[in-house]
Amino acid sequence: MSPNETRKPANTQWGGRFTSGPSEVMERINASIGFDQRFFAQDISGSRAHARMLVEQGILSSEDGQAISDGLDTISREIEEGSFVFSAALEDIHMNVESRLRELVGDAAGRLHTARSRNDQVATDFRLWVRDEIDAVEIQLRGLQEALLDKAAAHADTIMPGFTHLQTAQPVTLGHHLLAYVEMFGRDRGRFADARARLNESPLGAGALAGTSFPIDRAATAAELGFDRPMANSLDAVSDRDFALEFLAATSIAMTHVSRFAEELVIWCSDGFRFVHLSDAYTTGSSMMPQKRNPDAAELSRAKTGRVFGALLGLLTVMKGLPLAYSKDMQEDKEPVFDAADSLALALAAITGMVSDMTADPENMRAAAGKGQPTATDLADWLVRAAGVPFRDAHAITGAVVSLAEERGVDLSTLSPADMQAIDPRISEDVFQVLSVEASVASRTSEGGTAPDNVRAAVDAARARYLGN
Ligand code: ARG
Repeated sequence: MSPNETRKPANTQWGGRFTSGPSEVMERINASIGFDQRFFAQDISGSRAHARMLVEQGILSSEDGQAISDGLDTISREIEEGSFVFSAALEDIHMNVESRLRELVGDAAGRLHTARSRNDQVATDFRLWVRDEIDAVEIQLRGLQEALLDKAAAHADTIMPGFTHLQTAQPVTLGHHLLAYVEMFGRDRGRFADARARLNESPLGAGALAGTSFPIDRAATAAELGFDRPMANSLDAVSDRDFALEFLAATSIAMTHVSRFAEELVIWCSDGFRFVHLSDAYTTGSSMMPQKRNPDAAELSRAKTGRVFGALLGLLTVMKGLPLAYSKDMQEDKEPVFDAADSLALALAAITGMVSDMTADPENMRAAAGKGQPTATDLADWLVRAAGVPFRDAHAITGAVVSLAEERGVDLSTLSPADMQAIDPRISEDVFQVLSVEASVASRTSEGGTAPDNVRAAVDAARARYLGN
């Protein structure tokens, strides 16, 4: 602070011990109201539950309880309407609400903070916020699975190349490929549900760190706020941010899936592939090159993954050096979680939109699926099955057949029986039944395999498992 800077009066929430207010930079570094106002609704619910319990326990008069409840109604309305004036001098959402409550209802407001600290208050608010966010993500993930399942059902028979190393490996169906993502997003739902179950304990009543001497009823506030039970240890209750880390970890993994799918869309839309087409709704043009149609929404969904990973690593780093219990460092827990949650919500909306929007080009996919001898494994398998050749030998024989086809610049299925028999006399004409791409796909009937009938059954099973219909 410069020597001439005039200080404000001390903060009224702890004014007793302070003679003057903070420097301008102290106020700026300390204030979280710019972002934590985002959980005003959770803060007000927490205060309501706390006040009701204090009345129930005879710690607060019912008149004061009523005044607090009415005041909180007004504040809630003011914030929703946008007329509430947030003040950085009041640091955070908790003190902004309490200070306004005092203006509205007088002394009763000062009694609301009995047996409570901002430490258990913020932990409660944040858990409630993350829980709400998980519930919203769950709906979005389900919607994405539904969109994928609809497309998968429509493309149970659509043949495309399956890749390993992004080299043509074996033909698969587009429906099967999309169902792989249904599984990934299904596991994401499971991870969010696990995180939700673990976070659903109430920190309220832990006080600053040690509990309180007032005869509070933690089970009552926990129940009112929809928590399963109070957290067992007051030090843990105010200092734990595992729930935020788990949310960020689950979000990071979900974003990995979003990003992989986005990458596939970018590849599939590219000139070398042209497997799918995205409409004007999800693409942009170039200001210079009139022919361009760029898959920007897919690219940005892929890119947003970076900031989500950053959020996880950032919060892990904030938490890793903190002794028990609360340290102000923990105020830095919110922005990364908000940003990651917003990024995931937006990317899921974009991906879901693109899944529904995309139109496949079955001819291009089928043509690509035929390139690169994708039925070589089918020839080897036939040698094993029909001629009793050990798989290793069959692999070598097939290698020789593939070499010959490549030398001639043709597909395996267009070599003559004589050409093949010259390599191994055990190869008969029957082999041609398995060498087409269609036959290859139709033969993959093992559980979880790509055969169109399997895909149709898998779509039904996934609908039952994930959508309950
Ligand atoms: N704004 C604070 C936070 O977000 C609330 C808790 C403040 N606690 C304290 N002891 N200063 O973490």
